[in-house]
Parts: sequence; C-alpha cells; structure tokens
Amino acid sequence: MRNIAYDNITDAVVKSIDGTANPRLKEVLSAVIRKSHELVKEIDLTHEEWEAAMNFLLRTGQISDERRNEFVLLSDLFGISSLVDIIASNAAPDASERSVLGPFYRENAPFLEVGGDLIKDNDGDRVVFQGYVRSTSGEPIAGALLDVWQNAANGEYENVDPTQPDYNLRCRMLTDEKGFYCYSSIRPYPYEVPDDGPGGEFMAATGRHCWRPAHLHARVSAQGYGELVTEVFNTSDSYIDEDATFGVRASLTVPFDREATEEELARHPGVERPFKMVDFDFVLKPVG
Ligand code: BEZ
Ligand code: FE
Repeated sequence: MRNIAYDNITDAVVKSIDGTANPRLKEVLSAVIRKSHELVKEIDLTHEEWEAAMNFLLRTGQISDERRNEFVLLSDLFGISSLVDIIASNAAPDASERSVLGPFYRENAPFLEVGGDLIKDNDGDRVVFQGYVRSTSGEPIAGALLDVWQNAANGEYENVDPTQPDYNLRCRMLTDEKGFYCYSSIRPYPYEVPDDGPGGEFMAATGRHCWRPAHLHARVSAQGYGELVTEVFNTSDSYIDEDATFGVRASLTVPFDREATEEELARHPGVERPFKMVDFDFVLKPVG
C-alpha cells in the first residue's frame, strides 16, 4: 500500500477490514466505505466542505445527551429512520405499517382500564381513541399491551414541558377479551421538531419547515407477536403531506373527527361533549 491513489484507495480500505470476524458487520462496513468513497468522488468534496461536515457532526454530538439524541433527529429528517421502518414493514406486509418512534417515548406509563380517561386537566378538543388489536390472520389478540403517548394542546410532550403533570397523556392498556382498547383523550396537535441544533440548521439551509402532522404514538406488543412501533395520523391535518420526518403512510391516516354514535356517547358519560371518535386497529405479525 505504498502507492495509494484515487483509483485504488477504496479497495485498499475495504481490504483493510478483511479481518472483521462478524460477517454482517463486515458487509455493512464494506458498503459504508464503498458508498462514502463513491459520494466523495461524485461531488468532488473539497477540504473546506469536509471540515464543515466534521464540524457539523461534532456539534451534533455536543448538543446530544441522554435526553436528546440529535443524530436520531438527523436520521429522522433525512428520511433514514422511515426508510428503515419501510424495509421492516415490507417484511410484514399484512401487519400495520411502522412509523418513527421519535424522541419522546417514556417507559412505565401508568396503566389505564379499557374505557378509561386521559383528559384530566387538559384543554383541547375531546376525542375517544378506540379499536382492536388483531393478528395478521384476523384473530383478536386479548391482553395485548398498548403503550401510547401524544402531545398536549400546546403542542408539547409532557417530558419536555414543565407545565404538564408527570406522564400526562401517556398510558399503557391491556386489550380486553375481544382485543378491544378504548380511552378518552384530547386530539393530538401538529408540532415542530426541535430546531435549535444541527437538525434545525439543516432544515433552515434547505428551506424546509419542522412541522409534523398531528399524531398518536403507539407501541403494541403481545406474547408470540413482533412488537409494532407506529403512529396514527389525522387525515385532515394541514401537514399530512409534508411531515418533516417522513413518517406518514396512507394506511396510518384516519379521521380524528368521526361523530360519536348514541351508544358511544352513552359509553363515555364523564367525557365533556361534544367529543369525536378516532378508530384505528393495530395488526401484529406472529413471530416464527
Ligand atoms: C415526534 O413524533 O414527536 C418526533 C419524531 C421525530 C423527531 C422528532 C419528534
Ligand atoms: Fe410525536
């Protein structure tokens, strides 16, 4: 390797990792090396541009901590997270599609009974979320664990907003014997992803906005099934076709304003009227 040049450097670097014991790691790293060299050649990267890129990554690391991962945000804004979701969804075509986890999930949300209430002191339009968890073969899954979270009427998630109570608008729920889940909440609101770091810089430089359409986040799991991480979107949201993180799929959009039937109104006597219904079924794929 005395004579490293434009035409042999890529092969030389790929060969240098020949000793990688893990075959998948070797495959991935070889592709990363080949594709990144290809990219540098395609755009004739200058030294100044390389330095700017290294500085951008340095700042991405510096603004990150255990509560904020700016690398994940960049992955979201570049559509990489969604592409990974789409690849996983393609491998389970009859299951509900996956969508971004986002940075605001919290473990150990309080359990709520089927039919319970999450509204408490929240302002905002009242809605009832309901539906079934079923398997790809159509059977209801009793005892499936639904873990849901959403933002408040001010657009903020509880864990980044000191004005909200702990675990506001989050709950875990076990489906009943029919695989049914149901709870009253407020309508989620459109919201802007954090724009005060390198992610925001990227969005400003490229003339993009940081808005996400209103959505509910859900992690759904059950014994014998693959876990589903997904989102449910409001079909009529003004940002539905321009999600900053590319998380929207047609199959994950539903109206957030279906009129409640008399029976549904009667089932939720404690919920201030008028309230609207949001129907969504989660479909899980058996493992193995
Ligand atoms: C969210 O859904 O809240 C979110 C997703 C990706 C990046 C930032 C926020
Ligand atoms: Fe979100």
